[in-house]
Amino acid sequence: MKLPIYMDNAATSPCDPRVVEAMLPYFTEKFGNAGSRNHSFGWAAEEAIDIARNQIASLIGANSKEIIFTSGATEANNLAIKGAAEMYAKKPAGETGRGHIITAQHEHKAVLDPVHRLKKMGFDVTLIAPGEDGVIYASMVEKELREDTILVSIMWANNEIGTINEIPKIGKLCKARNIIVHTDATQWVGKMPTDVERDNIDLLSMSAHKIYGPKGVGALYVRRRRPRVRLVAQLEGGGQERGYRSGTHNITGIVGLGKAAELCSQEMDQEGARLVKLRKKLEDTLESRLEVSQVNGHRDRRLPHLTNISFGFVEGEGLMMAVKDIACSSGSACTSASLEPSYVLKALGIGDELAHSSLRLSLGRFTKEEEVDYAIDNIMTGVEKLRTMSPLYDMHKEGIDISQIEWAAH
Ligand SMILES: Cc1ncc(COP(=O)(O)O)c(C=O)c1O
Repeated sequence: MKLPIYMDNAATSPCDPRVVEAMLPYFTEKFGNAGSRNHSFGWAAEEAIDIARNQIASLIGANSKEIIFTSGATEANNLAIKGAAEMYAKKPAGETGRGHIITAQHEHKAVLDPVHRLKKMGFDVTLIAPGEDGVIYASMVEKELREDTILVSIMWANNEIGTINEIPKIGKLCKARNIIVHTDATQWVGKMPTDVERDNIDLLSMSAHKIYGPKGVGALYVRRRRPRVRLVAQLEGGGQERGYRSGTHNITGIVGLGKAAELCSQEMDQEGARLVKLRKKLEDTLESRLEVSQVNGHRDRRLPHLTNISFGFVEGEGLMMAVKDIACSSGSACTSASLEPSYVLKALGIGDELAHSSLRLSLGRFTKEEEVDYAIDNIMTGVEKLRTMSPLYDMHKEGIDISQIEWAAH
């Protein structure tokens, strides 16, 4: 077996060789600019983009005209949130009370930061706190709705804990009140069946590199009918993508995203079933063999491939060292550069110690069962070894309730 084992597919996934193969001609012989309307190089690029648009639309139940290509989910989120807020603002820039926006505390920073900026620009913001299962239910959103609510942005599935929010119900709720619904579906699309029409989604963000496509390309779905959603462009220039996103098309990336989407449409069902089995093996074995360990977030409402497990009585950095043969994450890949405990786990009410000693393990298309077995052994050995060095674990074994101890401060 080749080490280290890759178990960080929620951070990014390898490109599927079939995706790379589809992309290759567009670096060399088919390198045209889709904006070149008067020669065959341009036409070939335009045709390739049309094909990709259809492949993506069919993955999420949209019309191809509703797909806007971006540089990834971060840009798609920014365009959706800032673009909708500006378009549907109730008062002009410079005033307060411009409209109310709802999101959740444990969203990705690519949603939270645009929302924070809008708050500074005069919008009111509600951040819903999840319960300990991490799920945002429609009832939680319903409680926060106001007369002036213009936008609800709730991710479909969480990138750190893999929990699935009640998006179809949230869509229905907002549709009935003419409120725009955006969902950051970066971790969901391509893994689970998606139908924006049935589920009343107005705006949906996705990214190629989470679904075995290349990095630096993504898409935003923008509803065109019932209702026709409009956005204020955040990048201006050549007017590509119906004026929503100027800039020469990243043709290789777009072809890659399209092919990746097509493969997901074809293989999602078998792939999901296989990954659920592997993930459950990982979770059940570790939880049953290692005491004081817990799977974070709702046990059933979760993505097939992603788990997040905390191990009591081990020190976080020690744990990462102990499992260095497994490429995984101790929090979101986007925030693990800092040593802050994960804000996602904190939002679920998980204490700092336990948050630090958690691992996010995300399996993928190329994960083999023997790798999962290796990871189980490796994590068990690592945790057990670290616990032999923990005086607190000794006390726990003696039956002392650590939480009741009053430590003397000198
Ligand atoms: C839920 C979620 N949203 C947005 C992003 C950002 O995606 P991208 O890297 O395509 O900008 C990520 C990736 O980490 C993610 O997991």
